Amino acid sequence: MTRNSGKPYSRLNRSIVITPEDCARLRSHFLQIPLPVADEAWRSGILHGDCLALAPLLPQRCVDLLILDPPYNLTKNFNGRRFNRQSVQDYADWLDGVLRVLKPLLKNTATVYICGDWFSSASIFMAASEHLIVRNRITWEREKGRGAKANWKNASEDIWFCTVSDRYTFNTEAVKQRRRVLAPYRDAQGQPRDWETTEQGSFRDTYPSNLWTDITIPFWSMPENTIHPTQKSEKLLAKLLLASSNAEDLVLDPFLGSGTTVVAAKKLGRRYLGIDLEQDYCLLAARRLELAESESCIQGWVDGVFWERNTFAQQHIKKNH
Ligand SMILES: C[S@@+](CC[C@H](N)C(=O)[O-])C[C@H]1O[C@@H](n2cnc3c(N)ncnc32)[C@H](O)[C@@H]1O
Repeated sequence: MTRNSGKPYSRLNRSIVITPEDCARLRSHFLQIPLPVADEAWRSGILHGDCLALAPLLPQRCVDLLILDPPYNLTKNFNGRRFNRQSVQDYADWLDGVLRVLKPLLKNTATVYICGDWFSSASIFMAASEHLIVRNRITWEREKGRGAKANWKNASEDIWFCTVSDRYTFNTEAVKQRRRVLAPYRDAQGQPRDWETTEQGSFRDTYPSNLWTDITIPFWSMPENTIHPTQKSEKLLAKLLLASSNAEDLVLDPFLGSGTTVVAAKKLGRRYLGIDLEQDYCLLAARRLELAESESCIQGWVDGVFWERNTFAQQHIKKNH
């Protein structure tokens, strides 16, 4: 496989590629509609097709966590299929249609996360608040981003946190953030207040906020990287899944892309269903699921905590109390 530019990959490039030989094998793993009635027969899997057409054919009230990462309200090309920027109202109407179709699949205790950039966010709030309880907006810092001559460079994205009802899962202990201690306060006995020392410095495990500065967008030397133009990181999905689902819960991602949600779900012991319009992306997702059989780690999540960016060297060291 070559890059979009047609140039071959460099030797250091660790991006996941699909060979022509892989295709038939991977395609044979796709689920077919109708899904077998017994849950066990399709515990988890990938569907190739239009999620808006497929959703009415899926079992109702069985999804615990819905991840929505649709094309943003931007002009963008996904494998030759173009999405065009619309007005705030038109994009809100489109999202309204998406939520209307998917809502019957959700349990009453389900959580929904909706991803977007600042411009899409205006529409997301309008549509989401018609169908769901909107609880928060996470903003995460994108390291990458094109400079603009007559505007501020866009270096953030949003994830809206919504639930169907007031009964929902939130495992805050599972998504703690390990931060370097800047103010090492000690108690009257001289003991560290709420932090620990290690050979590499002092760290505190803090409760997660709605501002995330520890996310890296996958790039060519990361083993999770693919050619998908808007791939999210497994670390980002792991946060959403750990906070808002439990082992064996069913996670649905109807705009699957390269498969990040289903890979994170598999690594974290959740059931999953992913859907994408593009067969090439479904194949990538299936390949990533195959690779996850032998590689269960999630970059940036070690010892049950999330680490800041560029702390790889410190992530496997022993604590000395
Ligand atoms: C923003 S990307 C998702 C990226 C994904 N989260 C990842 O980490 O790779 C949106 C995806 O939605 C897919 N898509 C767009 N419309 C769709 C539809 N009606 N049904 C299913 N998939 C669709 C596109 O092909 C694209 O891969």
